[in-house]
Amino acid sequence: MIEIETTESVIGARVRNVSLGQIPDLDTVKEIDIALERYGVLIFPEQDITPRQMINFSSALGDLELTELEAARLPDFKEIFVVGNVGKGLVSFSPANEEQELEWHSDHIHHEIAARASLLYAKEVPDVGGDTLFACMYYAYDGLTVAEQQTCRKLEMIHSASGLDHYLEKQKLGDSNSLSGNRKHKEVVRPLVREHPETGRRGLYFGNQVTIGIVGWDDAEAGEFIRHLTKHACQEAFQYRHQWSAQDAVLWDNRRVLHAGTPYDVENTRRLMHRTTIRETAPITLIDE
Ligand SMILES: [Fe+2]
Repeated sequence: MIEIETTESVIGARVRNVSLGQIPDLDTVKEIDIALERYGVLIFPEQDITPRQMINFSSALGDLELTELEAARLPDFKEIFVVGNVGKGLVSFSPANEEQELEWHSDHIHHEIAARASLLYAKEVPDVGGDTLFACMYYAYDGLTVAEQQTCRKLEMIHSASGLDHYLEKQKLGDSNSLSGNRKHKEVVRPLVREHPETGRRGLYFGNQVTIGIVGWDDAEAGEFIRHLTKHACQEAFQYRHQWSAQDAVLWDNRRVLHAGTPYDVENTRRLMHRTTIRETAPITLIDE
């Protein structure tokens, strides 16, 4: 049996008796799946693992996405996406400083195949900053009025990497006024409200930068709606903040939580993380009323 120790926050739990260095048996995988949906974020501290072990463990949970971008993948390990400021260059969607907007998202929401879960492993972390915030989208949905829930259930959101490009540009320019990117990337349309395939619980599903529009709405209106929704959905009461130690591995449920990186000193400190991404298997469709 896996041992669960909840955090002080509304989501998140630590699991201390599972070694990611070993391939989990079917019972353990089932327990992890259940705990993942129940707590949204699972923290496995003090894991001393190789890239191969990380891939083997993650593969037991589901099919892995391969990293398309050569610059962001670990040499010889296409399954591992490298995040941070060590190696080939900076891969980060953290704001440049505390004044700038966070980039809340669910991994691969803008890809044809979304990510069901992600596993992030800390190789090197700065002493200060570079935390990851997680916000629970069940609480976000439950916290809306019945009328707002009804409105949200009908909305289809447009997601694109253009929104991320635009976010990175805004970081340089210090301008945080617009949400619409230049739309040079492919767009993916998904409902704003989804039901968790394991439990039927409803949650919001969007990002505040990667979501660039709402079907049938003009850009300005959509931008305003998304800003307003983010303020509600990602409020502190719905969050767990993970302050990383080296060798932490954190697994999260992209069906239930959004996440965002916080700033760190990219010039003078080192942050190196490995991520594996477990593919979504369930259809993401509008709720049949
Ligand atoms: Fe992410």
